[in-house]
Amino acid sequence: MKKIKYKINKLRKEILKYDYFYHTLDKPIVSDAEYDYLFNQLYNLESKYKQFITPDSPTQKAGSNLLDKFKKVSHFFPMLSLENTFDLKGYLKFENRIKKKYMINSAIDFCCELKIDGIAVSLIYEEGNLIRAATRGDGFFGENITNNIRTIKSIPSKLKGFNIPKRLEIRGEVFMLKSDFFELNIESFTGKKKYFSNPRNAAAGSLRQIDSKITAKRKLMFFCHGFNFFEETESFKTHYDVLMQLKNWGIPVNEEVLICFNHLEILNFYRKFEKYRASFDFDIDGIVIKLNSLYLQKKLGFNSKSPRWAIAFKFFSKEEISKLEDVKFEVGRTGVITPVAYFNPVYISGVLIKKASLYNKNEIDRLNLHFNDYIIIKRSGDVIPKIISVIIKNRSKNAKKVFFPIYCPVCNSELLLNKEEKIVRCLSGLICDAQKKKLFCHFFSKNALDANGLGPKVIYKLIQKKVVLNLIDFFYLTKEQLKSLSNIGEKKSIKIIETIVKSKKTTMNRFIYALGIFSVGEIISQKLSNYFIFPDNLVNASQKELESIDGIGKVVANNIFNYFSISENRKLVSKLIEILDIAPYHNQCFNKNNVLNKNIVITGIFKDFSRSKLKAILIKLGARISNKISKKTELLIFGKKVGSKFFEASQLNIETMNEEELNSLIKKENN
Ligand code: IVH
Repeated sequence: MKKIKYKINKLRKEILKYDYFYHTLDKPIVSDAEYDYLFNQLYNLESKYKQFITPDSPTQKAGSNLLDKFKKVSHFFPMLSLENTFDLKGYLKFENRIKKKYMINSAIDFCCELKIDGIAVSLIYEEGNLIRAATRGDGFFGENITNNIRTIKSIPSKLKGFNIPKRLEIRGEVFMLKSDFFELNIESFTGKKKYFSNPRNAAAGSLRQIDSKITAKRKLMFFCHGFNFFEETESFKTHYDVLMQLKNWGIPVNEEVLICFNHLEILNFYRKFEKYRASFDFDIDGIVIKLNSLYLQKKLGFNSKSPRWAIAFKFFSKEEISKLEDVKFEVGRTGVITPVAYFNPVYISGVLIKKASLYNKNEIDRLNLHFNDYIIIKRSGDVIPKIISVIIKNRSKNAKKVFFPIYCPVCNSELLLNKEEKIVRCLSGLICDAQKKKLFCHFFSKNALDANGLGPKVIYKLIQKKVVLNLIDFFYLTKEQLKSLSNIGEKKSIKIIETIVKSKKTTMNRFIYALGIFSVGEIISQKLSNYFIFPDNLVNASQKELESIDGIGKVVANNIFNYFSISENRKLVSKLIEILDIAPYHNQCFNKNNVLNKNIVITGIFKDFSRSKLKAILIKLGARISNKISKKTELLIFGKKVGSKFFEASQLNIETMNEEELNSLIKKENN
């Protein structure tokens, strides 16, 4: 409890400091995303531990100074929110719910619109004249922003045309074009005023200015997506009809509106705009699907939060803008230098993101990255943070360009650019401390020598204290040496030594993988052990022989050959061969009958196995697997949808086995 109270107080202090810089000094010192993140943390803690809430907490007066600026107005119809889904399943649930309720079996029409990422507003027109505009507020009471709304050029102060109702409410989004936002930020940046983290924030900030002259300068836009009539009307049957009428009266309605009759049409609409959203000059964060019939809308009504007749189908990954703080060049296990960008944290699809890999030198060149650049970040494939582009217009004049280093940031040796693979590497191997640490950890990791208990922490300490200088030293560690490290006592030191001794008994493929040769992962290690059987054969292999192995290309063969050409590596490997007990690959795989000791090719799709699972099982049964049919092939195992391999095999009279036969063989072997 004490800890929680301390955390709450710390968060409050931090937030109040940022508030002071933002509101009083007009000089924000953290990004909006970071502020929101801290604020949410505080809010969540206070919701859980209500006893700690005090009236002076920022959560208790959040935005109140802004609210005070404007008069409160009561909404005629509550301004609700929308139910959300991120996938088709969620949409189908929504559609089925509607159909079930009204026992509808046939297609119903839905009106699909873009979900504009802006600020919801309500506009009241009387006799066609705009008389009041308000923000959403808490849904029941909003802020009266009529004066500011009047500065938005595309919102008519008077509706044009005929049959305009006596009183009408228009709902829609106020937003800022991305291009205007960038321009505004440059102005703000050079004028040292506060800058906005995205167009939505800029629109919100601009709309809530006491001085509407400032709002007028901010080039805000508006799209209508909803309406309320104050009197019953028979004139319109559908949502779409009303939108078109509003357009005729002069209200801006986005042109991307489509009537869809089934989920496939809706999915197409969704996919189309998910693809094109980046090319729009305004932000959208999904699509909104609304039951088109006003009669059915009315029948379905609302729940406490949202209408039952509409749903937002949201796009997952969103872009955010941040400011580049630093680029660090990390040295990987195999010496590959990976640039990593660090920026002001931003919140994207629910996750706070602070850094993104820049992959390689080409990526830095592509972005023409400079320190302090404003960058657009997205979570590619919804997960991995990626910098998409730089807002060049916002770059300050004396910004320094990010250069790829010429020397290794850890060991200072000259770096080498491999143009073919687009990578820069430090070739110092174990001389480079960064590579040493990572290689040692890799060598003893689960899929390599599997020394469970000898984790990175112990390994780092051993390197730091210079107890181990190379891999061989690990096998001669004494209890006393281990006990000299902090946090390691008698019991733990014994366990570590036991684990290392146990790890000596290994297999050829694990051993090759453990060496951490550049581009040699587990699959290539298996192929190499499959082919060479004993480690010495591999060490002495020529480049040509390596290239001849099925599944090993020129580049990989070259990397392997280079590794064993370095005398230090050869010395290390031969010492390891001496110390370790390496079982040749086949010994480990052969079972008692060695049933599948054959050159095998697999083709087609298997009902019960994925490709990798099937390969693993076959290897255990002694198989040597290759991708191509050749004269050496002894057996073709085939599933459904076989391709040309099946016919090549039959031409060469190669024995075949289908999935059923294979299954019964596996069963027999397991009994
Ligand atoms: S319909 C009862 N249509 O999204 C709410 N909303 O996340 C009915 N929005 O509060 C809203 N584009 O401010 C609707 N085409 C669109 C929209 C849209 C953006 C906003 C709206 C709503 C929020 C819900």
